[in-house]
Parts: sequence; structure tokens; C-alpha cells
Amino acid sequence: MSKKPLNIGLVGYGFMGRTHSNAYKRVGDFFDLPYAPVLKAVCGRTADGAKAFAANWGYESIETDWRKLIERKDIDAIDICTPNNTHAEIAIAAAAAGKMILCEKPLAMNLVEGHAMVDAVEKAGVANTVWYNYRRVPAVSLAKELIAAGRLGKVFHYRAQFLQDWTISADLPQGGTGLWRLDAAAAGSGVTGDLLAHCIDTALWLNGDIETVSAMTETFVKERKHSLTGKVEPVKIDDACAFLCRFENGSLGLFESTRYARGHKALYTFEVNGEKASLKWDLHDLHRLQYFDYADDSLIRGWKSIHVTDGDMPYMKHWWVPGLQIGYEHTFVHQVADFLTNTAKGAPTSPTFRDALATQAVCDAVLDSADHHKWEAVVPV
Ligand SMILES: NC(=O)c1ccc[n+]([C@@H]2O[C@H](COP(=O)([O-])OP(=O)(O)OC[C@H]3O[C@@H](n4cnc5c(N)ncnc54)[C@H](O)[C@@H]3O)[C@@H](O)[C@H]2O)c1
Repeated sequence: MSKKPLNIGLVGYGFMGRTHSNAYKRVGDFFDLPYAPVLKAVCGRTADGAKAFAANWGYESIETDWRKLIERKDIDAIDICTPNNTHAEIAIAAAAAGKMILCEKPLAMNLVEGHAMVDAVEKAGVANTVWYNYRRVPAVSLAKELIAAGRLGKVFHYRAQFLQDWTISADLPQGGTGLWRLDAAAAGSGVTGDLLAHCIDTALWLNGDIETVSAMTETFVKERKHSLTGKVEPVKIDDACAFLCRFENGSLGLFESTRYARGHKALYTFEVNGEKASLKWDLHDLHRLQYFDYADDSLIRGWKSIHVTDGDMPYMKHWWVPGLQIGYEHTFVHQVADFLTNTAKGAPTSPTFRDALATQAVCDAVLDSADHHKWEAVVPV
């Protein structure tokens, strides 16, 4: 297949800038695609940093102002890998300039911003996607296939956790490079937008809309030194959040996230219990899907651990041979592959900005519920 170049302009070259750059570089080696991504330009706030990143990863040029990057005629797609408080401004400007947009999660700081972003991409008619990458772990995609095929039957329960332990020390500052997640002005919220947003995106995809939520949050360390001002300032993010919810399909949901679960680094787990079968997944063992099928003969009935590596399983025919697993970075490769394939056909790539708005609506309802100590309805989007 002849490949059309697709020039990428990357904004922000931290953690996600690296995972996305890796994906653009690898995707054409493993997937036969209509487009070939070209690492055209990387944008960072300092020329030295951007130059070093460009040299390391093979970007052709640099910018130090994302507005200049968006103005460039030789850029087709803007990839937003910056802190949450910058997503809306960059995405709305990129849409107005007619660029395709790949935006990191959460979509926005809040629902109001999110609506403006959705309006901008839909009015401009530009291809868009949000990097809720866990959808594209092959075992998670397999869970989607099994649920969509009706194998679980009626779903009764959905539960998810995302546990970390990296902010327990009260000496950790807030704000600035590396620690913007602790600063509400940059992050919007704490674990709700950072971690639960992933759990919510997966849940909406697997189990449908959430109608109502009842949440509690806690900020265990009330004040931290701010890296940018040097002053001790109140901490306004949620350090931990737990919520109950009701799904539109009648099932009950239970979600928990914290950065204070000593011993856990990135323990994202979910479990779905249906009338006929149950399944569960664990990011620390991401190539396995646990599955219990009540239709099995009672003598051998039990939880089975499916090693999601066979060629007929989602995405796996593009990789090695059965039995050999892939990992975290491949989820981003899969999203680029899907984005390029769909965009060439004029089809959307989920989660689109509009799909991610639904996650934003749940996050906002969760935070409102925790503030008001009462059940909140999720605003339909
Ligand atoms: N999909 C996922 O699993 C996942 C994982 C981590 C982070 N994220 C999201 O990705 C985004 C970035 O997170 P990260 O972990 O890569 O953060 P990071 O701190 O590692 O990197 C952020 C980068 O943005 C740069 N930056 C900040 N303001 C800028 C500006 N105005 N112009 C240009 N560059 C600017 C910083 O210098 C840094 O290079 C966040 O929205 C975060 O929620 C998603």
C-alpha cells in the first residue's frame, strides 16, 4: 500500500511525549497503514530541552511556542501531551487551524471546557481522539468483545480500582515540572481526573452509561510547598476518591483510587460480574484476562487465566508468535494504528473528544457529589 506522509507536531515531551513518539516510530513497522507518521516538529517551552528531545527521538524541527506550531502549514496533526490546564486552549486553536488532534486525557479541566473542545473539533470537522490507551490493551479489547457478544449476559456489578503510593510523603512539593499533578490549577483534580478517568473511560466503553454517582474524596496532606512560588500553599486536589454509581443497564458500580496505597504503583484492576460469566483484568499482569464461565461443566468450572497472545485475539496478529506477550507501550502503537486507519476512511477513532466528554461528565459529577455529600446525576452529553 502506498503511504501518505502525516506530519506530526508534538506539544510537550515528558512521559506521554515519549510514549507517543515511540508509537509513531514503531507503528509502520508492524501495521500496514495508509499513512506514514513523520516526526515533523516537537514543541517545548525551552529550545535546549526541545532540541535534545528532537535529537534523541528524530524530530526534524522544534518550536518553543505551540501557537507557532499550529500556524505551520507543514503540520497535519497536533498531539497534545501537556498538563491538563493547557489541553483546551491548544485543542481549540488547533481545530480552528484545521489540524487533526490527538489529545491526552483527561479531555479537559471540567465539563464546560470539554464542551468547548467538542464544539471546536466538530465545527471544524477535524479527526480527533483522546489517549485513553487502556482500551487498546489486547486483554481489555478482548473483554469488550466478550461482553459485546453477550457472553456475560445481564451485568450486575462493575468494580474498578487504580491504586498508587507516590504522594504519601508530606515533604513532596506541589506544582511545576513533574509535580503539576498535585497542583489543582494545572491538573483540575487529583486522582479523579488522573486515574479514575481511565477507569471511567473503560467502564463506559465496556458497560455503558453511568446515570448517578455518590462519592467521597480526601486530601490527606493539606498543605505543600509550591515548586513555582516557593510558598507553602493549600493542596486543592483529591488525594483519594471512592464512588458508588448506577449504570443505565441496571448494574451497580464501585470505584476507588488513591495515591496513598502503600506498596501499589499502578494497580489498575477491573471486574465485571454477569449472569452467565465474570471477567477481571489487572494492569500489572496486563496480557492476561481472567474469565469464569458458568456454562462450563461443573467438574471443571473455575476461573481461567486467558493468555491474550494468539493471533486471533485483538491486535496480536501484528506482533510476535502465540505465547509471546506485548506490553504498555503497545497500547499507544495500537491507538495510532487505529487513528491512521480510521482517518483514511473518514471514520472516527474512539474515544473521540465527544466520547471523552462523557468521562468528563462522570468526573465532574463525582467531584460535585463529594463536595455536596449527596448523590448526583451525571449530565448527559
Ligand atoms: N494516557 C495515559 O495513560 C497518561 C499517562 C500519563 C499522563 N497522561 C496525560 O498526559 C498529559 C501529560 O502528562 P505527562 O505525564 O506526560 O506529563 P509530564 O510532566 O511528563 O510532561 C508534560 C510536558 O509538557 C510540557 N509543557 C508544559 N506546558 C507546556 C507548554 N505551555 N508548551 C509546551 N510544553 C509544555 C512540559 O515541559 C513537559 O515536557 C497529561 O494531560 C496527563 O494527564 C496520560
